[in-house]
Amino acid sequence: MKRDRAEDRQARKRSRPLWADLAAVAIAVLAVVAALVDLGTLYPAGLGAHQPIPFSHRVHVTYKRLSCLMCHTGVTTSSRAGIPPLQTCLLCHSRIIVEHPFIRKLRYHYDHNIPVVWERVNWLPEFVYFNHSMHIQRGFDCSWCHGEVSRMDRVVKAKKFQMGFCIQCHRDHHVTHDCFACHR
Ligand code: HEC
Ligand code: HEC
Ligand code: HEC
Ligand code: HEC
Ligand code: HEC
Repeated sequence: MKRDRAEDRQARKRSRPLWADLAAVAIAVLAVVAALVDLGTLYPAGLGAHQPIPFSHRVHVTYKRLSCLMCHTGVTTSSRAGIPPLQTCLLCHSRIIVEHPFIRKLRYHYDHNIPVVWERVNWLPEFVYFNHSMHIQRGFDCSWCHGEVSRMDRVVKAKKFQMGFCIQCHRDHHVTHDCFACHR
């Protein structure tokens, strides 16, 4: 009698992991599906970095005809193009689609003074010096180095900024390709 019960318990112990495993797998699958569905409905699909707020250059530049310089104010005067502060967005979005979930998120960040951390797309290693204003003042279009940003819903890196890319254009325009121009 005693042995029977012990065997019984053992049998149960042996069988438990099977359905427990199945349940765990089922829960994991459900969680993944739920996460995907959630992201799919909240965050528009497409290429490019996953930004905290899905800002679309296509909507704002092509459709709404905003100038790049309105937001990237540094390009003509400094080395950095700069990413606009949330005040710039709120020039319009304090009135336009204020109930949109991502505009509410934007508003929340602004009201609580929490910066939006945009995912960086283009960068150079620290040992390379680059200056936007020098290039913009010579009349080069943004698209030469960044591709057709105005058609992008999410910014993608258009060019690999390898040394050859920079030097080729410098050669073509008879600009210095002295090492210390870019490696200071
Ligand atoms: C209404 C404001 C606004 C306008 C207008 C705008 N941008 Fe932007 N841009 C942003 C914001 C915000 C980001 C950061 C989020 C992102 O990468 O989408 C950004 C990111 C970028 C980046 C990627 C930066 C990185 O991380 O490397 C490039 C390149 C860029 N913009 C180029 C342009 C060009 C070219 C134009 C004009 C054709 C333009 N932008 C017009 C707001 C703007
Ligand atoms: C000059 C006005 C203006 C500025 C500045 C502006 N937006 Fe917009 N934005 C609009 C308009 C207009 C729409 C389209 C509204 C609609 O769909 O009815 C829009 C749509 C959006 C949407 C909705 C989703 C989409 O892409 O359609 C988001 C998110 C958004 N903007 C974020 C931003 C962010 C972030 C900034 C600042 C970097 C910004 N906007 C700056 C006018 C502006
Ligand atoms: C000659 C090539 C070139 C041109 C032309 C150019 N860029 Fe850039 N851009 C770069 C490089 C290289 C970087 C990365 C810089 C770094 O990491 O130091 C960059 C970075 C950026 C960034 C990231 C953040 C920052 O502050 O630098 C933005 C935004 C940007 N560019 C916008 C623009 C806009 C808008 C234009 C046109 C008005 C433009 N760029 C024209 C080469 C270029
Ligand atoms: C589309 C052509 C083009 C590309 C691409 C380009 N440059 Fe230039 N660059 C120029 C021109 C033209 C000048 C001269 C500007 C002037 O002095 O008026 C210049 C000037 C410079 C200078 C200043 C040189 C000096 O006289 O001291 C630096 C630094 C520089 N570029 C770095 C870079 C880097 C780094 C890259 C690659 C990420 C790059 N450039 C890509 C055309 C280009
Ligand atoms: C017009 C700008 C420019 C000039 C001029 C230039 N470089 Fe570079 N250099 C770059 C850029 C941009 C990178 C980064 C490449 C990358 O990340 O793939 C780089 C990277 C490098 C690296 C690191 C290579 C690696 O694979 O990590 C070395 C070493 C280097 N440069 C040496 C030189 C020497 C030596 C000269 C002079 C003969 C020179 N550079 C002139 C822009 C320049």
